[in-house]
Amino acid sequence: MTTTSRTRRGDLNKGLTNYGDPEFASYLRRSFAKSMGYSGDMLKRPIIGIATAASGFNNCHRLTPELVEAVSRGVLAAGGLPLPFPTISLGEVFLSPTSLVFRNLMSMDVEEMIRAQPMSAAVLIGGCDKTVPAQLMGALSAGVPAIQLVVGPMMTGRYNGERLGACTDCRRFWARFRSGETTEAEIEDVENNLAVTAGTCAVMGTASTMACISETLGMTLPDSAAAPAVHADRLRIAEATGTEAVRLSHSGIAPNAIVTSDAIENAARMLLAIGGSTNGVIHLAAIAGRVGLQLDLRALNALSESTPVLVNLKPTGEHYMEDFHAAGGVHAVLQELEPLLHLDCRSVTGDTLGDRLRSRRRFVDRSVVRPLAEPFRATGGLIALFGNIAPNGCVLKRGAADERLFEHVGRAVVFTDLDDLSNRIDDPALDVTPTDVLVLQNAGSVGAGMPEAGYLPIPAKLARAGVKDMLRISDARMSGTAFGTVVLHISPESAIGGPLGLVRNGDRIRLSVKEQRLEVLLSDSELAARRHHVPSRTVPSRGYARLYAQAVLGPELGCDFDFLRANPSDP
Ligand code: FES
Repeated sequence: MTTTSRTRRGDLNKGLTNYGDPEFASYLRRSFAKSMGYSGDMLKRPIIGIATAASGFNNCHRLTPELVEAVSRGVLAAGGLPLPFPTISLGEVFLSPTSLVFRNLMSMDVEEMIRAQPMSAAVLIGGCDKTVPAQLMGALSAGVPAIQLVVGPMMTGRYNGERLGACTDCRRFWARFRSGETTEAEIEDVENNLAVTAGTCAVMGTASTMACISETLGMTLPDSAAAPAVHADRLRIAEATGTEAVRLSHSGIAPNAIVTSDAIENAARMLLAIGGSTNGVIHLAAIAGRVGLQLDLRALNALSESTPVLVNLKPTGEHYMEDFHAAGGVHAVLQELEPLLHLDCRSVTGDTLGDRLRSRRRFVDRSVVRPLAEPFRATGGLIALFGNIAPNGCVLKRGAADERLFEHVGRAVVFTDLDDLSNRIDDPALDVTPTDVLVLQNAGSVGAGMPEAGYLPIPAKLARAGVKDMLRISDARMSGTAFGTVVLHISPESAIGGPLGLVRNGDRIRLSVKEQRLEVLLSDSELAARRHHVPSRTVPSRGYARLYAQAVLGPELGCDFDFLRANPSDP
């Protein structure tokens, strides 16, 4: 056998570097690959790229090296060649201005590196909030068979006999500290016990929501979303993921054959049934956009009316992700949702969701995952609202809100941006009462990178008086671990001329969950008159910030870049 015929059979010859001489490029690549100690036989195996997002700036991904080792073991045992490669990592709390700003950059990195390097399937190892959507978006656009492996959630810690988990309890204790119930020394002790292992936040925050969505979409192995990062199951799942990736390289099932319109609807049902993060709406819309689909917020409302909340996890319930894993995890929720799901959706294993659910029934802890007929809430945890200050919609996590505020009219107390908010929210002279509506402007994607600042703190003087919740509205996001009557993602955002920017102190704001409405009680003519005074915006002069400001879409389109969404007419 000649050298040329031998190498042409393997993945190593895919996408050769262009020197104007393919034979030379093949020979050079083979030679350099051999410099890493691989035998000629090993280089003939299917190549499984392992996209890793380990970083000293990402605590959640601390055990990624162990996972890479376990995935590689599975790949080798199944006859493949594992080749890990790094991509950008997004550690939620280490990024400025926000991690969401860099999600699209990471997705481009994942897409281009999967496409540019020779592999017949990819394993995507991520977990922290924006990494899983970034990897899924990138893999969908790259079109190469791919399988997701999440790093798994943290275990809980203990403090004075209380169980603590990031980050719902972070907020609970911070609120106590702000209201003077907790001392400086106590908050320091709490700080040491909130995040005690590697892994993603321990509650049903954005990371866990996206893990559940990924499993429901069929992009992970079954039963893989909830196993804790430090549990032996996590390593076994990693090994099995490696094995499956080799099978996937043979079956050639591309991600867009898995992430279909029906699969997106199944994932939306899961998002609603777990009382998932509002960020999940943005990421699912972005994922849908990569396959030429749109997550319609009115359609989401229809699903929300017929999808009960089944999972009793913080921030809306009592338990933590490790309890969810022990209680049956995503499989248990899918079992309950079965009559509402599209069962013919395929997963990375080639099986349909129906096959998966028929294959086994097992123990479910009913204190954590309730039967469909006896839910925790009769309707889904999220609802979209529309009105004259949110023509393109906005989102309320009603499962985490105070029902007494669902039909509410209050006086607007306006903060024009994040600086204004931090300068004045605790000012003893702030004119605010518990029935007022806190309004934050210019906190959308273009205005501020859409920070998780929509959970406006209760003004200190009201917090000290015992006020725990108020209606708060903004074009910002909220952490999936937070709770309160908080309306988010108002679109279009104020910085690009959205009507939220026209609201002034003293205007009356009306929320009606029943009518799915959020509005300012002003006439169209008054709003039109105010529009004449909207200041023009400045676009950053260079770099990624410029690209972001020019190309980012609204939250209803997932805050993706306009040029990254799939064109439905593309082949
Ligand atoms: Fe990474 Fe919460 S900080 S998941």
